[in-house]
Amino acid sequence: MTDNIEVLISEEQINVRINELAKQISKDYEGKSVHLICILKGSVFFSCDLAKRIILPVTMDFMSVSSYGDEKVSSGRVRIVKDLDESIQDKHVIIIEDIIDSGRTLAYLNELLSSRAPASLNICTLLDKPDRRVTDVDVKYVGFEIPDKFVVGYGLDYEQGLRNLPFVGVKI
Ligand code: IMP
Ligand code: MG
Repeated sequence: MTDNIEVLISEEQINVRINELAKQISKDYEGKSVHLICILKGSVFFSCDLAKRIILPVTMDFMSVSSYGDEKVSSGRVRIVKDLDESIQDKHVIIIEDIIDSGRTLAYLNELLSSRAPASLNICTLLDKPDRRVTDVDVKYVGFEIPDKFVVGYGLDYEQGLRNLPFVGVKI
């Protein structure tokens, strides 16, 4: 399965960085509760690993949006496939994403969720491809900046497969 995949970020590197992010979030939100919004499906592994390491009261909700289908190229459109179950009003919300590419998905989500009156709203992404940005988004927490390559693993898929790789890799 992993024959033609090169490791870009190892399992160990991911663990170390998630510990750092969780520490930073725990410090920034000291005395508060945080409401994590996991963007399905890509950020499930990241959201769960991060949530376990945050030493504050944490609640979680899940949202599914589609901007890509199974294509590698963004359609530019974002559609809500599954909305949140609970209200985010007056909550300290952190959107958890797997990767920011064009920035369209997060720009859309940021605007949508801002309109629902959270106490605060920030974004945390595991990966960022800054070279690909077409829409400006303010991202507070970034795990790793990566080059403009199509990556898989640790939640990220290629045609719905390879999400379960414990590392982030590049198809070669
Ligand atoms: P954006 O709206 O262009 O920022 O797209 C973000 C979404 O595109 C992510 O949540 C992923 O689902 C998908 N995506 C972008 N780049 C990659 C990649 O390198 N591998 C897998 N999925 C990707
Ligand atoms: Mg995604």
